[in-house]
Amino acid sequence: MRAAWLSRLREWLPSPAAEVLDVGCGTGSLALLLAEQGHHVTGVDLSPGMIAEARRKLVDHQVPVLLGDAADPPVGDRRFDVVLARHLVWALPDPLAALRRWVGLLRPGGHVVLIEGRWGTTTESAVGVSATALAAAVEPLGGPGARRVPHRPSTVGQGINDERYVLLAHV
Ligand SMILES: C[S@@+](CC[C@H](N)C(=O)[O-])C[C@H]1O[C@@H](n2cnc3c(N)ncnc32)[C@H](O)[C@@H]1O
Repeated sequence: MRAAWLSRLREWLPSPAAEVLDVGCGTGSLALLLAEQGHHVTGVDLSPGMIAEARRKLVDHQVPVLLGDAADPPVGDRRFDVVLARHLVWALPDPLAALRRWVGLLRPGGHVVLIEGRWGTTTESAVGVSATALAAAVEPLGGPGARRVPHRPSTVGQGINDERYVLLAHV
Protein backbone atom coordinates (compact mmCIF):
# COMPACT_ATOMS: atom_id res chain seq x y z
CA MET A 1 0.00 0.00 0.00
CA ARG A 2 2.80 2.33 0.95
CA ALA A 3 4.66 1.64 -2.30
CA ALA A 4 1.45 2.10 -4.29
CA TRP A 5 0.76 5.51 -2.74
CA LEU A 6 4.33 6.57 -3.21
CA SER A 7 4.18 5.73 -6.87
CA ARG A 8 0.93 7.66 -7.35
CA LEU A 9 2.19 10.68 -5.41
CA ARG A 10 5.22 10.78 -7.71
CA GLU A 11 2.86 10.95 -10.69
CA TRP A 12 0.66 13.65 -9.22
CA LEU A 13 3.18 16.02 -7.62
CA PRO A 14 6.06 17.98 -9.10
CA SER A 15 9.56 16.68 -8.52
CA PRO A 16 11.07 17.23 -5.06
CA ALA A 17 11.61 19.56 -3.43
CA ALA A 18 8.20 21.16 -3.68
CA GLU A 19 6.57 23.17 -0.92
CA VAL A 20 3.53 21.05 -0.04
CA LEU A 21 0.67 21.97 2.29
CA ASP A 22 -1.14 18.85 3.50
CA VAL A 23 -4.51 20.09 4.74
CA GLY A 24 -6.38 17.79 7.14
CA CYS A 25 -3.15 15.82 7.41
CA GLY A 26 -4.46 13.47 10.10
CA THR A 27 -1.68 11.30 11.48
CA GLY A 28 0.66 12.43 8.73
CA SER A 29 0.73 9.31 6.55
CA LEU A 30 1.05 11.19 3.26
CA ALA A 31 3.18 13.94 4.80
CA LEU A 32 5.68 11.27 5.85
CA LEU A 33 5.82 9.70 2.39
CA LEU A 34 6.37 13.13 0.83
CA ALA A 35 8.98 14.24 3.35
CA GLU A 36 10.88 11.01 2.74
CA GLN A 37 10.95 11.94 -0.95
CA GLY A 38 12.53 15.29 -0.14
CA HIS A 39 9.47 17.53 -0.35
CA HIS A 40 9.11 20.38 2.15
CA VAL A 41 5.83 19.53 3.80
CA THR A 42 3.65 21.47 6.23
CA GLY A 43 0.65 19.73 7.79
CA VAL A 44 -2.52 21.28 9.21
CA ASP A 45 -5.22 19.53 11.19
CA LEU A 46 -8.04 20.54 13.49
CA SER A 47 -7.59 17.66 15.90
CA PRO A 48 -4.94 17.91 18.65
CA GLY A 49 -4.94 14.10 18.87
CA MET A 50 -4.17 13.72 15.17
CA ILE A 51 -1.49 16.38 15.41
CA ALA A 52 0.19 14.65 18.32
CA GLU A 53 0.30 11.40 16.34
CA ALA A 54 1.55 13.16 13.20
CA ARG A 55 4.34 14.90 15.13
CA ARG A 56 5.35 11.56 16.61
CA LYS A 57 5.39 9.91 13.19
CA LEU A 58 7.31 12.81 11.61
CA VAL A 59 9.80 13.27 14.42
CA ASP A 60 12.78 12.55 12.15
CA HIS A 61 11.67 15.07 9.53
CA GLN A 62 11.43 18.84 9.41
CA VAL A 63 7.65 18.91 8.98
CA PRO A 64 5.75 21.58 10.91
CA VAL A 65 2.32 20.24 11.89
CA LEU A 66 -0.01 23.10 12.72
CA LEU A 67 -3.24 23.12 14.66
CA GLY A 68 -5.84 24.94 12.61
CA ASP A 69 -8.73 24.89 10.22
CA ALA A 70 -7.92 23.47 6.81
CA ALA A 71 -10.41 25.93 5.34
CA ASP A 72 -8.14 28.79 6.44
CA PRO A 73 -4.72 27.32 7.15
CA PRO A 74 -2.62 29.30 9.66
CA VAL A 75 0.34 29.80 7.30
CA GLY A 76 0.35 33.58 6.96
CA ASP A 77 2.00 34.83 3.78
CA ARG A 78 3.65 31.56 2.86
CA ARG A 79 2.99 30.22 -0.61
CA PHE A 80 3.08 26.61 -1.77
CA ASP A 81 3.62 24.60 -4.92
CA VAL A 82 1.01 22.05 -3.90
CA VAL A 83 -2.04 21.98 -1.65
CA LEU A 84 -2.92 18.37 -0.99
CA ALA A 85 -6.07 17.06 0.69
CA ARG A 86 -7.03 13.43 1.19
CA HIS A 87 -10.48 12.52 2.48
CA LEU A 88 -11.20 15.99 3.79
CA VAL A 89 -13.08 18.18 1.30
CA TRP A 90 -16.35 16.30 1.55
CA ALA A 91 -16.47 17.00 5.32
CA LEU A 92 -15.86 20.77 5.17
CA PRO A 93 -18.85 23.05 5.84
CA ASP A 94 -18.01 25.29 2.86
CA PRO A 95 -15.76 23.37 0.45
CA LEU A 96 -15.86 26.06 -2.21
CA ALA A 97 -14.57 28.75 0.17
CA ALA A 98 -11.77 26.39 1.23
CA LEU A 99 -10.84 25.66 -2.39
CA ARG A 100 -10.67 29.39 -3.11
CA ARG A 101 -8.42 29.93 -0.10
CA TRP A 102 -6.12 27.07 -1.20
CA VAL A 103 -5.79 28.45 -4.70
CA GLY A 104 -4.82 31.77 -3.10
CA LEU A 105 -2.03 30.00 -1.21
CA LEU A 106 -0.45 28.65 -4.38
CA ARG A 107 2.46 30.04 -6.30
CA PRO A 108 1.82 30.57 -10.03
CA GLY A 109 1.64 27.17 -11.70
CA GLY A 110 0.80 25.49 -8.42
CA HIS A 111 -1.23 22.32 -8.05
CA VAL A 112 -4.25 21.31 -6.01
CA VAL A 113 -4.38 17.56 -5.41
CA LEU A 114 -7.72 16.34 -4.07
CA ILE A 115 -7.97 12.68 -3.14
CA GLU A 116 -11.62 12.10 -2.41
CA GLY A 117 -14.42 9.66 -2.92
CA ARG A 118 -17.99 8.73 -2.36
CA TRP A 119 -18.03 5.81 -0.02
CA GLY A 120 -20.85 3.41 0.57
CA THR A 121 -22.56 0.49 -1.02
CA THR A 122 -25.91 2.16 -1.67
CA THR A 123 -26.86 5.62 -2.93
CA GLU A 124 -28.82 6.28 0.27
CA SER A 125 -25.99 5.39 2.63
CA ALA A 126 -23.08 6.86 0.65
CA VAL A 127 -21.12 9.77 2.08
CA GLY A 128 -18.52 11.91 0.38
CA VAL A 129 -18.48 13.94 -2.81
CA SER A 130 -18.65 12.68 -6.36
CA ALA A 131 -15.88 13.52 -8.80
CA THR A 132 -18.38 15.30 -11.02
CA ALA A 133 -19.56 17.60 -8.21
CA LEU A 134 -16.05 18.35 -7.03
CA ALA A 135 -14.78 19.01 -10.57
CA ALA A 136 -17.65 21.48 -11.01
CA ALA A 137 -16.59 23.26 -7.81
CA VAL A 138 -12.96 23.43 -8.91
CA GLU A 139 -13.67 24.69 -12.42
CA PRO A 140 -14.47 28.35 -11.61
CA LEU A 141 -11.23 28.72 -9.68
CA GLY A 142 -9.19 29.37 -12.80
CA GLY A 143 -6.46 27.48 -14.58
CA PRO A 144 -7.07 24.78 -17.16
CA GLY A 145 -9.52 22.90 -14.94
CA ALA A 146 -9.29 19.64 -13.13
CA ARG A 147 -8.09 16.32 -14.47
CA ARG A 148 -9.75 13.30 -12.94
CA VAL A 149 -7.63 10.25 -12.24
CA PRO A 150 -9.22 7.03 -11.01
CA HIS A 151 -7.56 5.12 -8.21
CA ARG A 152 -5.78 1.88 -8.88
CA PRO A 153 -6.77 -1.12 -6.77
CA SER A 154 -3.28 -1.07 -5.27
CA THR A 155 -4.03 2.17 -3.39
CA VAL A 156 -7.48 1.29 -2.08
CA GLY A 157 -7.46 -2.50 -1.81
CA GLN A 158 -9.04 -5.16 -3.95
CA GLY A 159 -12.79 -5.49 -4.38
CA ILE A 160 -13.56 -1.80 -3.79
CA ASN A 161 -16.24 -0.65 -6.17
CA ASP A 162 -17.44 2.63 -4.71
CA GLU A 163 -16.19 5.90 -6.18
CA ARG A 164 -12.59 6.78 -5.37
CA TYR A 165 -10.67 9.32 -7.40
CA VAL A 166 -8.10 12.05 -7.50
CA LEU A 167 -8.66 15.48 -8.97
CA LEU A 168 -5.59 17.32 -10.16
CA ALA A 169 -6.03 21.02 -10.78
CA HIS A 170 -3.42 23.51 -11.94
CA VAL A 171 -3.70 27.26 -11.55
C1 LIG B 1 -10.19 10.94 7.13
S1 LIG B 1 -8.93 11.84 7.93
C2 LIG B 1 -7.72 11.93 6.64
C3 LIG B 1 -6.34 12.23 7.18
C4 LIG B 1 -5.25 12.34 6.12
N1 LIG B 1 -5.54 13.36 5.13
C5 LIG B 1 -4.99 11.04 5.45
O1 LIG B 1 -5.48 10.85 4.33
O2 LIG B 1 -4.32 10.18 6.04
C6 LIG B 1 -9.62 13.48 7.94
C7 LIG B 1 -8.77 14.46 8.76
O3 LIG B 1 -9.26 15.77 8.52
C8 LIG B 1 -9.25 16.47 9.74
N2 LIG B 1 -10.20 17.57 9.62
C9 LIG B 1 -11.55 17.50 9.46
N3 LIG B 1 -12.05 18.74 9.31
C10 LIG B 1 -11.00 19.60 9.37
C11 LIG B 1 -10.85 21.01 9.27
N4 LIG B 1 -11.90 21.82 9.07
N5 LIG B 1 -9.62 21.53 9.37
C12 LIG B 1 -8.53 20.74 9.56
N6 LIG B 1 -8.60 19.42 9.66
C13 LIG B 1 -9.82 18.85 9.56
C14 LIG B 1 -9.60 15.43 10.79
O4 LIG B 1 -9.16 15.85 12.08
C15 LIG B 1 -8.83 14.23 10.26
O5 LIG B 1 -7.53 14.20 10.77
